[in-house]
Amino acid sequence: MDKYLETNRQNWNDRVSIHVASRMYDLEGFKAGKNPLHSIELEELGDVSGKKLLHLQCHFGMDTLAWARLGAQVTGVDLSDEAIALARSLSEELGIPARFICTDIYSLPGALEDEFDVVYTSYGVLCWLPDLRRWAEVISGFLRPGGRFYIVEDHPLANIFEWDEASGTLRIEYPYFPREEPMYFEPGPSYTDGEGVTSVGAYEWSHSLGEVVTSLVGAGLEVDYLHEFPICAWRRFPCMVQGEDGWWRLPPDVVEIPMTFSLMASKRG
Ligand SMILES: C[S@@+](CC[C@H](N)C(=O)[O-])C[C@H]1O[C@@H](n2cnc3c(N)ncnc32)[C@H](O)[C@@H]1O
Repeated sequence: MDKYLETNRQNWNDRVSIHVASRMYDLEGFKAGKNPLHSIELEELGDVSGKKLLHLQCHFGMDTLAWARLGAQVTGVDLSDEAIALARSLSEELGIPARFICTDIYSLPGALEDEFDVVYTSYGVLCWLPDLRRWAEVISGFLRPGGRFYIVEDHPLANIFEWDEASGTLRIEYPYFPREEPMYFEPGPSYTDGEGVTSVGAYEWSHSLGEVVTSLVGAGLEVDYLHEFPICAWRRFPCMVQGEDGWWRLPPDVVEIPMTFSLMASKRG
């Protein structure tokens, strides 16, 4: 395992207990039957009952198991062994059938031989991947002819900003365009409200929206749509306010920027 991957694996192992204790993930609510999926993916992906669904970067499997509750036959994949161990134990505890595989995305073709109706991935995934062309090839390789790939993710434009405490505004801090060398982030708290800090830092890569689309098209997929939304699934900046619908928004005096995108692509039948 290379240095970047190993550091990120440890970082994500550390985050599991932080997230489990957070209100944002609300694991107890999930156990009691609450659906953690958001309106965008629920409406856009639609009825998954009877479908074979591969969830890439599934974290500790809550969303994977939520799709299973809606009738999908699910397989979740993640780099973090602690996340996958928890996903497997949740599957058993809740009696929701699921298969979970612990691997780096790029090694998945060597760890799994199968075909899926849907390949799914969501919120906070692309920044952990050094190479989107290989990512798209992995996705295409696991789709059956006629199968669909769906991603709902933080918008790459929103990723360039950082909150400036002193001026109380957003400032441009991170690159929009991809670079070969990753950015290093020091150990610290996670993006949830949960207590605790990671013991190691993390490496992240920027990816532009054009790179996402072009990688998928290059791997032989046809893009059905690309949607952009001014709402966010999590509190990205301290100035954001949460609506009754659960989505976080910039306050009305700040000009709207895209915070989330979704994309559906199909493999030719
Ligand atoms: C922000 S989380 C995804 C969150 C998911 N939407 C959720 O809310 O549960 C990102 C996940 O990507 C995983 N990950 C990071 N790099 C990876 C890689 N190279 N291969 C597979 N999984 C990876 C991490 O372990 C982490 O669980």
